[in-house]
Amino acid sequence: MKIAVFDSGIGGLSVLYEAQRALPQEQFIFFADEDNVPYGTQTPAAVQQHVAAAFDFLVAQQVKAIVVACNTATSVAAPAMRARYDLPIIGMEPAAKLALDEDGTRRVLVIATPITVKGQKMQLLIDRFDKDHLVDRLALPELVTFAERQEFDSPAVRAYLQQALAPFDLTQYSALVLGCTHFNYFKPALRTLLPANMRFVDGNAGTVRELRRQLAARGALEQLTPSVAYYYSGRRVTDAAEQARIDRYLQQLSLVHDL
Ligand code: DGL
Repeated sequence: MKIAVFDSGIGGLSVLYEAQRALPQEQFIFFADEDNVPYGTQTPAAVQQHVAAAFDFLVAQQVKAIVVACNTATSVAAPAMRARYDLPIIGMEPAAKLALDEDGTRRVLVIATPITVKGQKMQLLIDRFDKDHLVDRLALPELVTFAERQEFDSPAVRAYLQQALAPFDLTQYSALVLGCTHFNYFKPALRTLLPANMRFVDGNAGTVRELRRQLAARGALEQLTPSVAYYYSGRRVTDAAEQARIDRYLQQLSLVHDL
């Protein structure tokens, strides 16, 4: 059976990339809800509807697990999906705890979508783990739009980031938490604006570890001929130009993965 990796758009490819390396003999369905991206600037109710429709489609494909490779969708829709379907649903949240565990004295800046930044889930995470009030949050919705049009580094991207980061004294920070899967593509552009004391932290490896753990617990890990079927919303990607677009994202991920 296949594993589904779901995102509002192409950000989830960064989780798929990690999952393929950790589970090289599994088969995947990658679902980018290209008809409805971006999620992060919509209402939670609208996002819940999009996620429910995507899950209906994926469950009908008889997948054995769904990775919600989207912090925004996890924030507002994962509990409802878990109540509705009896299969492992692995969500994501900004890896602020990981960043605090790795340093714990200097500040941490979480960048994510407006829904994630303002959401109750993020607030609970901070109340639970940020006892010393070290975590700051910043919404960067335009990065999702830049990512969807494959504009990873340009004068416009750098100007946007520079302006957004200007209020923060970044010399006081140990980490930049990439709390949206669309943001991984921008590591090179971000690096030019961050001091050397800041490193990138994301939740991709932890999410894939949790996927493996849940599959192993069910005896559902398999050794299959690896494959990925790509879907934009409910449509299978078969067109060469669309596949080439996906390949360019995967190429960028291979460049930025270890930064
Ligand atoms: N990739 C998504 C996330 O991790 C959200 C992007 C969007 O649709 O706004 O939050």
